[in-house]
Amino acid sequence: MDQRGYRVAIVGASGEVGRNMIETLDRYPIPVSSLRLLASKRSAGKVYSFRNSNVVIEELTENSFDDIDLAFFSAGGSVSLKYAPIAVSKGAVVIDNTSAFRMDPEIPLVVPEVNAHILSKETRLIANPNCSTIQLVVALKPLRDRYGIESVNVSTYQAISGAGAKALYEYDAELTDENHLPQILPTRSDEIYYKIAHNVIPQIDVFMESGYTKEEIKMINETQKILNDDGIKVNATCVRVPVRYGHSISTTVKLKSPVSTRMEIIDLFEQCEDVVLRDDISHQTYPMPLYLQHRDEVFVGRIRKDLFEEQVIHFWIVADNILKGAALNSVQIAYYMHQNGLLGD
Ligand SMILES: NC(=O)c1ccc[n+]([C@@H]2O[C@H](COP(=O)([O-])OP(=O)(O)OC[C@H]3O[C@@H](n4cnc5c(N)ncnc54)[C@H](OP(=O)(O)O)[C@@H]3O)[C@@H](O)[C@H]2O)c1
Repeated sequence: MDQRGYRVAIVGASGEVGRNMIETLDRYPIPVSSLRLLASKRSAGKVYSFRNSNVVIEELTENSFDDIDLAFFSAGGSVSLKYAPIAVSKGAVVIDNTSAFRMDPEIPLVVPEVNAHILSKETRLIANPNCSTIQLVVALKPLRDRYGIESVNVSTYQAISGAGAKALYEYDAELTDENHLPQILPTRSDEIYYKIAHNVIPQIDVFMESGYTKEEIKMINETQKILNDDGIKVNATCVRVPVRYGHSISTTVKLKSPVSTRMEIIDLFEQCEDVVLRDDISHQTYPMPLYLQHRDEVFVGRIRKDLFEEQVIHFWIVADNILKGAALNSVQIAYYMHQNGLLGD
């Protein structure tokens, strides 16, 4: 860090997450004295604007982290596995958006609203959770604090942008040409080639032996890790839907103590400053991704008590997967560390 602020690097700057990282950092009150944008050779030379200056993308190399205090990574797991340790060894604090380090017991997996307290001055590498997990745990926290949680069962409705910039181009091509054959997968695995336009794909990432997909296992493990409770039973079905931005989650939670009315949960969410309540059934008000894309907040609605079980509730969560699900959460981690004196020497 120099007198004017942190020397920051963004790896994967030309990608869906990376571009939003630049914009989010731009509007957050974190002092930045220099910004280095990094990507592969393909995007080297592209120019992006940051706080009224133009910054040219450079090709990522082992020397990219000389004189860097803070590095954001979102260029895929293999890039993080190779380069994040190099950045740390050169003195940078790394905030990683990929799944490379999330389940490493030594690495904090952080959603600031839920568990920022585990960060310390010694923390050099922080993992940013999976996009669906982030919005889920933000909504679970007030319930956990008030009632305790026994189990969580979710079905996700995940936007195409969650599979990266190329998946969005693919979707546009499918919409304009119905004979277009998908070239890449909207699910982030290289094995299936289904169209996503006019479709719903109940597979995100590859299948595991258990029959769950890797995305589903990530949601289960990461939720337990962030809530610091291996006893919470989590189940997930992850689905890709033809929506550009914004993941939705149908959520069923079994609490540890009973709920008397639906209003009790509505009041709880209304008083919680980390979520925005959109639940007015008399006016058909509930969160929808089309109307909430590019927003920072986590929205909840469609709140119901189970008709049969006293301790079970159902609700609906929506958040922008690129912002709160990725870029914004990373910048918020950095902002928390900056505010609490955990960044820099
Ligand atoms: N999209 C989401 O909702 C989301 C949410 C959470 C986490 N993530 C994670 O964040 C990462 C990026 O996702 P994305 O959606 O932004 O993907 P994306 O749009 O495909 O962008 C990938 C970025 O990585 C760069 N890159 C790829 N290979 C590279 C290499 N060998 N060396 C240097 N740079 C390389 C690309 O640069 P070029 O332009 O040069 O190819 C591009 O900047 C992934 O690991 C993903 O799992 C994504």
